[in-house]
Amino acid sequence: MRLSASLPLASLVLASLIAISPALAAGQQVAATPPMGWNSWNFFAEKVTDKDIRAAADQLVSTGMKDAGYIYVNIDDTWEAERDANGVLRTNSKFPDMKALADYVHSKGLKIGIYSGPGPKTCGGYTASLGHEEQDAKMYAAWGIDYLKYDLCSFNEAVMQKQAPNDKAEQMRLMVAAYDKMSKALQATGRPIVFSLCQYGWDSPWEWAPALGGNSWRTTDDINAHWDRIYAILSQQEGLLAYAGPGHWNDPDMLEVGNGELTLAENRSHFSMWAMLASPLLAGNDLPNMKPEVKSILTNRDVIAIDQDPLGKQASRVYSDGEVEVWARHLDGGAIAVAVLNAGSDRYSTHPFHLSLTKLGLNGTQQAKDLWTGKDMELTNNMPVELASHDILLVRVATPK
Ligand code: GLA
Repeated sequence: MRLSASLPLASLVLASLIAISPALAAGQQVAATPPMGWNSWNFFAEKVTDKDIRAAADQLVSTGMKDAGYIYVNIDDTWEAERDANGVLRTNSKFPDMKALADYVHSKGLKIGIYSGPGPKTCGGYTASLGHEEQDAKMYAAWGIDYLKYDLCSFNEAVMQKQAPNDKAEQMRLMVAAYDKMSKALQATGRPIVFSLCQYGWDSPWEWAPALGGNSWRTTDDINAHWDRIYAILSQQEGLLAYAGPGHWNDPDMLEVGNGELTLAENRSHFSMWAMLASPLLAGNDLPNMKPEVKSILTNRDVIAIDQDPLGKQASRVYSDGEVEVWARHLDGGAIAVAVLNAGSDRYSTHPFHLSLTKLGLNGTQQAKDLWTGKDMELTNNMPVELASHDILLVRVATPK
């Protein structure tokens, strides 16, 4: 639902283009582990209302998701009306009283997030923050907002393309400066607010977003509730592990677990891999109508613990064999997590996949926990692993040898 077309990548080193503030330290006040919560976009899109946000907050509590770590209740696009004569951005009729809504969410022991962008309009065509960054940041802080998703959208066409046609370096400078401006405006409020950059992974945001205080940055264009899209996004995350860490995370987009026609295996694999990637875990499903099996995926504490591991080391793909991929990540205390994903459309029964521990740098039989069955198991070198299409084996090895 973006207005603008894709921006070609500019191979530029950006850190030198902005005056780097002490924002990195400020950014680390929040998001020491990847932010967890729920966002309205993937299920409600432009239909979301105040009532839906309250219901989502209620459901996070009653389903046990809050206790499992889902704290942020994030309103995405379409809450905005026009600015008044003083430039104050009004909420539209779907959100009659944002302060009261924030108070309600806080009263549940949760935090609340909101959405805007550096351009004149959001992706949905609603009013965004261009020229009103400080004013908007102050208003968010006064409302009690705890999280801002800041979405590039019209800034590309309205500012970058207009002010610097055919000058990629200048376009980049403008974009980075726009994100830096809002980051500084948020910091100036004195309220800890997670700053979530959304510009679809154009121009390697992982290289410049941490320096301006970004707590996360989208690494790709939008997700949708189809396995092919989820898998395509997963495949784009390779090579990004060095950029993730406490306070600053790669964001492969919000969860689609429980949405569309995803099978249980696909929901499990999607959730497992986002946890392996140390991704923000922002559920995007219809919480009041969540099926028990979807709830048990989203609240699997062992899998969440992989995502929330304090070391903050994102997984990398160690090797693949046909359509089976093996990913691993280091965990606090010397443990490791290993994911074996069957990305293919067939069950590996006639030609089973064999897991090489040697390729994982492991020496002989390992004691592990299967995080989806909850059972202890042994991993032996070259053991056959049979997985249904799009299903996953996710294990934690507490003391790898
Ligand atoms: C963009 C973002 C989405 C969502 C919509 C809202 O497409 O990438 O995540 O916020 O805008 O309009």
